[in-house]
Amino acid sequence: MKKPASATDPLWYKDAIIYELHVRAFADSNGDGIGDFPGLLARLDYLQDLGVTCIWLLPFFPSPLRDDGYDISNYVDVHPSYGTLNDFKSFLDAAHQRNMQVMIELVINHTSDQHPWFKAARVAPPGSAAREMYVWSTTDQLYKDARIIFTDSEKSNWTWDETAKAYYWHRFFSHQPDLNFDNPAVIEEVLKAMRFWLDMGVDALRLDAIPYLVERDGTSCENLPETHAVIRTIRAAIDADYANRLVLAEANQWPADVRHYFGDGDECHMVFHFPLMPRIYMALRQEDRLPITDIMAQTPAIPDNCQWGLFLRNHDELTLEMVTADERDYMYIAYSTNPRMRVNVGIRRRLAPLLDNNRRRIELLNSLLLSFPGTPILYYGDEIGMGDNIFLGDRNGIRTPMQWNSDRNAGFSKCDPAQLYLPIVMDPIYGYQAINVEAQLSDQSSLLHWTRNMIALRKLFQVFGRGTLSFLNPANRKILAYLRDLKRGDGSHETVLCVANLSRFAQPVSLDLADHSGTEPVEMLGYVPFPTITEASYVLSLAPYSFLWLELQPPSVKPA
Ligand code: NOJ
Ligand code: CA
Repeated sequence: MKKPASATDPLWYKDAIIYELHVRAFADSNGDGIGDFPGLLARLDYLQDLGVTCIWLLPFFPSPLRDDGYDISNYVDVHPSYGTLNDFKSFLDAAHQRNMQVMIELVINHTSDQHPWFKAARVAPPGSAAREMYVWSTTDQLYKDARIIFTDSEKSNWTWDETAKAYYWHRFFSHQPDLNFDNPAVIEEVLKAMRFWLDMGVDALRLDAIPYLVERDGTSCENLPETHAVIRTIRAAIDADYANRLVLAEANQWPADVRHYFGDGDECHMVFHFPLMPRIYMALRQEDRLPITDIMAQTPAIPDNCQWGLFLRNHDELTLEMVTADERDYMYIAYSTNPRMRVNVGIRRRLAPLLDNNRRRIELLNSLLLSFPGTPILYYGDEIGMGDNIFLGDRNGIRTPMQWNSDRNAGFSKCDPAQLYLPIVMDPIYGYQAINVEAQLSDQSSLLHWTRNMIALRKLFQVFGRGTLSFLNPANRKILAYLRDLKRGDGSHETVLCVANLSRFAQPVSLDLADHSGTEPVEMLGYVPFPTITEASYVLSLAPYSFLWLELQPPSVKPA
């Protein structure tokens, strides 16, 4: 008997709306300046009201917090600042009672150097079981073809350890030694940690930094067949004992390489669409659909039980690793005028500031997020248009406390402001007096209300999560137009036409919809009937940055 999860449909993740948050950033219940599980639990009504169906928690495990918790020192407990294991369980149960799923992080490529495994490895003799948990070498000349990821802080993927008298391997910070996946004992430990959380009822796992598990000399040490074999082992262990779970891969790679993380439907159910994300921003700034249609043309088909994970922003920099050098230069100039906005190979800004706080652009990009094939993933605070603080180090500027109201500390915490884990955003445009949940709840025209309505609308149409995509090819390239189509069980079709104007000026467009001649488009936000489609070109005018979602309904039977 497989252990059930909270969802009953095995493909639940195809219809999900995922909301990414950090416990420490959401709500502080005990006034120590750090968000915690009781605080998050008390805010579940807000998330339910927003309409999101799955909460993705950034790492909340014991950790020295030198990489915001991606440096784990114990896989099977909760960091004391965020509460206890029981607090986590109460949160999990409360989420499930609201029919919300919970995704947590499985960070297995590396641990903290404070993990007991690493402390033991350093002092253990070379070749011993304890030492072999990590990747060691007497020379730093091995695996020279592996790129450096954190280019701002690391010079090499090897660091010399004086105690071990050897170099250890790390793809990220030097305080994050990589586990040795050539050692079966490592895989056993990883599976043990995974089962701990799945047994508790956690619905989904995000596999952090998954392309880098195994190293081989003379290769880039990314996407190796041996790494895929580990992922298949993890997936098989899940499928054997657990029902209705989701595994999501974080693989920031080129489209052809990303595809492999689905395997034959036997690796990850979902993979982030990293190649698409920066190209959405490029298309917007160039006022040209080509970057989007081009990358979608290069996006391979995926197995039926699989799904793309779509996002506009997340807790990391807007990564520009997987674009050409020209595209990268363009993105830097277009979206990070101040060098402080850059970190590593990317741009550390939130959605609203990236889009110059332009409400139409924010809505346009969200309309793409919600209507492209895949499952949308929202980053906390972006639903109210939160800003960032480029004067904080690393990626902290986009990890500041959630802005609930205009009280002290934005209603996030009752502590002395100096005690906050990071300062609240306070500038005149994005500061908490201007941008907060309470104010937007009482304003029917707010971004929050708009986002909530759009999520509710999207949930009424399964075609968005499950349907096919085909682009139309109108002469005006400032217009992105596509059809989503889903064949229902009874043989009928759910068909939606999406038209987006990427330009800052009004645009005409003439669409060839002859294949749909006779159908009656209904604008989905207002339920407004549009002229019936005929064999002739279908002409529309779009206001700057506007979009239309039209459901193509079969011809109505006219009374005789
Ligand atoms: C990917 C995570 O998204 C990022 O935040 C982290 O710094 C790296 N993995 C290294 O753990
Ligand atoms: Ca707290």
